[in-house]
Amino acid sequence: MQKGLCVKEKENEFRRLKEFIESKKETQGIMMQTLQEAQNIFGYLPIEVQKFIADETGIPLAEVYGVVTFYTQFSVTPKGKHKIGVCLGTACYVKGAQLILDKLSKELGINVGATTEDNLFTLEATRCLGCCGLAPVMMIDDEVYGKLETKQIPEIIAKYRG
Ligand code: FES
Repeated sequence: MQKGLCVKEKENEFRRLKEFIESKKETQGIMMQTLQEAQNIFGYLPIEVQKFIADETGIPLAEVYGVVTFYTQFSVTPKGKHKIGVCLGTACYVKGAQLILDKLSKELGINVGATTEDNLFTLEATRCLGCCGLAPVMMIDDEVYGKLETKQIPEIIAKYRG
């Protein structure tokens, strides 16, 4: 299945983005600010949004695309409602973080970096989350889960499936 953005359905969002760009027209560094705002508005930066930004700011599309794909903070695919980040920092890795990640991948039926078909979860591997004492660690949205064991994963995921 191809996921895309229906421009017609997003008229309000494009209007908001246009207003933002107009309010920042004379500002330095407009591209980063605009991309951040666009990602806040749309949740991600599909090509339709990148084209719109290029047209409205006069910045070439290739340049917009280059920045979007260079910075990991930007995403060109939609993110799920819940973001799962499994720490693959050293402390977590030696405590079996890869097994946790594999279990999540199996439980959700997606690879790392992907989003489930129902848009409920996005699975990502992260760097050290700063709580190595709890290794292995994952975060779901703002919640930290530490000292994880693979057998806990189905129960934790079920909570978010509601
Ligand atoms: S290495 Fe995982 S929290 Fe630090």
